[in-house]
Amino acid sequence: MLVSAKEMLTKAKAGHYAVGQFNINNLEWTKAVLLTAEELKSPVILGVSEGAGKYMCGYKTVVGMVEGMIECLGITVPVALHLDHGSYDGCMACIEAGFSSVMFDGSHYPIEENIAKTKELIAITAEKGMSLEAEVGSIGGEEDGVIGAGECADPAECKMIADLGVTMLAAGIGNIHGKYPENWAGLSFETLDAIQQQTGDMPLVLHGGTGIPADMIQKAISLGVSKINVNTECQISFAEATRKYIEEGKDLQGKGFDPRKLLAPGVEAIKATVKEKMELFGSVGKA
Ligand code: 13P
Repeated sequence: MLVSAKEMLTKAKAGHYAVGQFNINNLEWTKAVLLTAEELKSPVILGVSEGAGKYMCGYKTVVGMVEGMIECLGITVPVALHLDHGSYDGCMACIEAGFSSVMFDGSHYPIEENIAKTKELIAITAEKGMSLEAEVGSIGGEEDGVIGAGECADPAECKMIADLGVTMLAAGIGNIHGKYPENWAGLSFETLDAIQQQTGDMPLVLHGGTGIPADMIQKAISLGVSKINVNTECQISFAEATRKYIEEGKDLQGKGFDPRKLLAPGVEAIKATVKEKMELFGSVGKA
């Protein structure tokens, strides 16, 4: 059964570790993340962007696939199915389809409008026992064709949104989706510290988990980050492993063209990446 992310993140914040959100793109991806979480006895959040939702034939298909896998693979660790960077309409569609968690990304609205829409969604998700993530201050880089500037969030605005009663808060602290540029200034721990002081027990979310050095991840966790999103790194490991398999000409004339064989190295690569992240985030054995 899918669960809200609230309990796992409250525990993570109190226990000074973070739960990974791993974005999924297809059946193989989902299977790899779920099996790794189960093996490591770690809670896990499956992230679905609106683009990935469309690719997987709609949110209902995603819910059916994930719920089916939880049952058929015998997954016992807590699993939240979460809309990543949702629009207001996207959130409504996922609530309807049976997701257990949504992110409303109102960071591009003026703060008053972000607050008004977030309030509406809090009421709806609370009634259904779902978790809700809000965002203040845009996260840099590209996500589904949208390029954010990577500004730092205003701690006072973070407090305003946190006080509304969201479950978790994503705040821009210089983080970027995708690969970090050579001249990246790093995370602003000063901003993170100020946000954590203003928002108290609120679990904070770090987007753009790909390519952030381990010491920065650990420092972010020590300053209240309890959910970390990873997408690009799984995509890169999947693509590299699949390409290597093809380039090595692994028996493609024989049974090698069988998609189950062709995609198997990619699945193993995702498993390895998820394992590495769960160990770094400290969520192993916390289920
Ligand atoms: P990366 O693609 O940089 O890992 O970021 C993922 C993310 O933040 C999804 O919301």
